[in-house]
Amino acid sequence: MPLSARKLTSRIGAVIENFDFEREPDADTVAELRGALNVHKVLAFDGVHLDDAGQERVASWFGRLTTAHPTVPSVEGAARVLPVDSETSKSNTWHTDVTFVANPPQLSTLRSVVTTPYGGETLIANAGAAYRDLPESLRNLADSLRAVHTNKYDYVRRPAVTDAQREHDRLFVSTVYEAEHPVVRVHPLTGERGLFIGGFAGRIVGLSDSESRALLEIFQKYVTRPENLVRWSWSPNQLVIFDNRITQHYAIDNYDDHPRRLNRVTVAGELPTGVDGVRSRQLVGDATHYSPLLEAVA
Ligand code: SIN
Repeated sequence: MPLSARKLTSRIGAVIENFDFEREPDADTVAELRGALNVHKVLAFDGVHLDDAGQERVASWFGRLTTAHPTVPSVEGAARVLPVDSETSKSNTWHTDVTFVANPPQLSTLRSVVTTPYGGETLIANAGAAYRDLPESLRNLADSLRAVHTNKYDYVRRPAVTDAQREHDRLFVSTVYEAEHPVVRVHPLTGERGLFIGGFAGRIVGLSDSESRALLEIFQKYVTRPENLVRWSWSPNQLVIFDNRITQHYAIDNYDDHPRRLNRVTVAGELPTGVDGVRSRQLVGDATHYSPLLEAVA
């Protein structure tokens, strides 16, 4: 039976209503899922009964897995599962996952483990639509730019008050990484262009810090326009897969002190390519323990 995708907004996101996670899909079914991800950029699934190993199995349908994170420890006993836990970090800043390495994950999977009685939604933005929304002169400018992304910045907008938060923040920057990426990335499967910036993008090559901030702010406003967003409310037993090549996301901190936890498993990606064909490169740090450098990824 073909997949049934119920759109969540006109520009991004769909719920897949008839997928059976109990059965191992054949290559055609995985290709269909991949096709749906290329179109909708975010696929959400309800009533999913997976544990960590099951989430790893699902993610691996799309390619080789990364380890949990370059610096932050995994869930105990599950080296490829990152706990995104409000006890340590709330992820309430716009970002694309792990863009401080040269080959960031091609996709991320998030599974609800502890949900909040209210709030705690994840916003996910379509960076391809943002690029198309730019006036032509800004599109041309963006096409020509490269940006340096680093993990050495204030990822989480809160002062660390607990020991767990302080330890998380210390670990996050315990090894510094810097990678240079095109500001406009060409999606390797669809050819779609998208703004490839987000919170780890610190400066634009050849510009001053203040010029970089001003320009990135202009581009970022296009990414986060309400029309480009889907707002996903978490319930138990849900899985969301998003295309990390052409989206940004933000976890809304609107749930007071309630605990919230998602487990994340990411699939390794290739080196991003700009419109001029020039690929990304690592400037500082070696992240090959996190993600192998792959030539091409399907
Ligand atoms: C993440 O930043 O990968 C997690 C997003 C979330 O907690 O909603």
